[in-house]
Parts: sequence; structure tokens; C-alpha cells
Amino acid sequence: MNERVVHDPVVAPPPDIDVSTVETPAYVIDLGRLRKNLAILGDVQARTGCKILLALKGFAMWRVFPVVGEYLAGIAASSPHEARLGREELGKEVHAYAPAYSEADIAELVTLVDHVVFNSFSQWQRFRSTMGGVACGMRINPQHSEVPVALYDPCAAGSRLGVTRDEFRADQMDGLSGLHFHTLCELGSDALERTLAVVEDRFDAELRRVEWVNFGGGHHITRPDYDVERLVGIVQGFRARRGLAVYLEPGEAIAINTGVLVSSVLDLVRNSGIDIAILDTSATAHMPDVLEMPYRPVIVGAGRPGEHAHAYRLGGLTCLAGDVIGDYSFPRRLAVGDKLVFADMAHYTMVKNTTFNGVRLPSIALHDPATSTIEVVRRFGYPDYKNRLS
Ligand SMILES: Cc1ncc(COP(=O)(O)O)c(C=O)c1O
Repeated sequence: MNERVVHDPVVAPPPDIDVSTVETPAYVIDLGRLRKNLAILGDVQARTGCKILLALKGFAMWRVFPVVGEYLAGIAASSPHEARLGREELGKEVHAYAPAYSEADIAELVTLVDHVVFNSFSQWQRFRSTMGGVACGMRINPQHSEVPVALYDPCAAGSRLGVTRDEFRADQMDGLSGLHFHTLCELGSDALERTLAVVEDRFDAELRRVEWVNFGGGHHITRPDYDVERLVGIVQGFRARRGLAVYLEPGEAIAINTGVLVSSVLDLVRNSGIDIAILDTSATAHMPDVLEMPYRPVIVGAGRPGEHAHAYRLGGLTCLAGDVIGDYSFPRRLAVGDKLVFADMAHYTMVKNTTFNGVRLPSIALHDPATSTIEVVRRFGYPDYKNRLS
């Protein structure tokens, strides 16, 4: 390959986990790395007075919610199911935002959440009388793009996400206590700084009428090159200037660099002089962002094509011709049964995976660095496939 343009992500070295006995495929999440990320986020909260929520759309491994709850203020949900999981398994603040709600969604959400953010004034008007004691906010769209990939840019022209300046109904703000903007994806605090300047400029009058602002997600706070001091300064400055409560709701920042996907080589084939390894995992089913972003995940001990002596294209076990993870090179020949470890596979994987072709979902395991033990906390089988169908 590759006609598609892939980018190679910046990732820290994956956690040191002995995967020799791990059954594959499996996502293995490292408790030490998770605590490390959460401690950084906890420190941001303590120094700025903001509250940080885990966006469950990015990472919803509820087995570790008790650990998450030691550090963070709660969760951000995109649906009643996520809200319920957050309420039942974490039990702290639950906030919800979705591009639109049905009547049934709202009826369920009001029993589960502390905050609901609407995406339009028509939805707000439709549901405002049913919201009871829930704090309600409006998502705004500052029309300031920072995300280079259109698929992930909420501020692209014609976006359905958030109310633009032109459409904003200041005359219908009564009863709204907050504003929400989500404009970033895997970005630094410089991008937040530029965005916030635009938000404050375009929605100055509205900011004076609310009590809280949610800065959304997409803040890569726990990535090694993220400027945390700058974030702290931005939030402190905003709070001093505006006197408002601030929420952040990252998903990736909680789970980045905390886990790996371990897979095995099932077969080796050749086509047009290219060596191809077929794995017991799949880009489309188990790591869909590889195709959607697209990007080439880091593999422990492997390099880009040409870096090592033996080049391989790695493919998944579904029928999709494009179920290809990427082209790599290895210092030695691959053999059937070899284990390959994909780095940074905790977020947007287990929340997004599918059973396409009936392929088994990867097990979910937890590695405790204190004891060097791996506990398989969930195995998936035929019932998980069958129960999604009828
Ligand atoms: C409204 C909203 N909040 C939070 C997030 C979490 O973003 P991330 O996981 O990139 O931090 C997203 C991601 O799409 C989102 O749409």
C-alpha cells in the first residue's frame, strides 16, 4: 500500500507488559499508566478549580471506574446508555450532550444526569419544561477550525454540531445555566487558547449570562509533549476573568498510552512480491480509527517500511479488502504464532469495535505493574455476537 495518506502518531513507549501468556486478541490496559494520566488530570483540577469528566465515548472500561473516580469529577455521556453506565458504575457527576435527543432519551436522561447540553434552540424549547432540576446548557459552534481532518472537525463549514453565532437565540436563554463548546481533537493547549479567544469574542454577552462553561474534549493533556502549564494558565485566567465554573470532558487524555492490543500471526501469504501477515485481529473491527483517521499504529519492535530487513503488510481477518493495518518492517522474519503488540489501543477501540464477519471481540485485560499480573476481566464469545442480531 499505500494510496491512502496515513500519519504516524506521537506515542510514548507502551507499558512494559509481558504478553507471552496473553490469549489473543486482547486489549491489555495498564493500571499504572492509567493512574499516571489521572494524576496529571487531577493536578490540573486542583490547580485550576475546573472539573474534569471522562468522556465515555472514548474509553468506557467500567472495571476501572473506581480508579477514575479517585481523581475525576464524573463522566460525560453521549446517550442514556453511557449516562446509566456512569451513574451506576462511577456514581459521581453525569453530564450529557448529543446532537439531538428523542423524547425517550430525555425521559431517561433526566433520571440519570446532573447536566444536559442541547445542540439547538428547537430541542431546548421542546424539552425545557421536562428538565426538572437538571442544569441545562447550549452547545455553541465558534466556527473556528483547529482540526485538520474534516471527519473530526466540529467547526467545518456546514457542521451540525453546535449553534453558530448567527443562529444563536439570546432571547431564548432563560433557564440555560451554561455553554459548551467542543472544537478540538488530539490537540494542544495552544489550540484551546486560540479557540477560547474566539469564543470569548463572539459569545461575550452570552458568557455574561451563564454560570458554567464546558470546554469539551480533544485536549491531549496527558500526551508527553502537551503543554500542561499553558492549559493551567488558560483555565485560571478564564476563571479569574469570567468568574465561571469550567468543565473539561476529554476521553483520550484519560486513556492515551495506557494500553495495547495483542494479536497473533495466523498466516503468511504473498502477492505481487509483497509478504503479507494475516492476524487474528482486524483494523475495521478492532481498531477502526486506523481506517477512519487514517493512521499507522506503532507496533512494538517493528518500524516503518525500510527501517528493518523484513517488510510485511499486516492485514486483518475479515473479508474487507481494505482491512489492512499498514506496511511495516521487522528485524526478523515473522512466523505463524508470533505475537504482535499494537501500542496505544485503549481509547476509541473497545467502545467502537464490531463483530463484523462474526470475528470474536478482543478480550479485555488489566495489567497491574505492582504485581506484574494480567487479569482477563472480560472474554467475548458467540452470545455477544448472537445477541446483537435477531
Ligand atoms: C462533545 C464531545 N465531548 C468530548 C469528546 C471527547 O473527545 P476526546 O476523546 O478527543 O478527548 C468528544 C469526542 O468526539 C465530543 O464530541
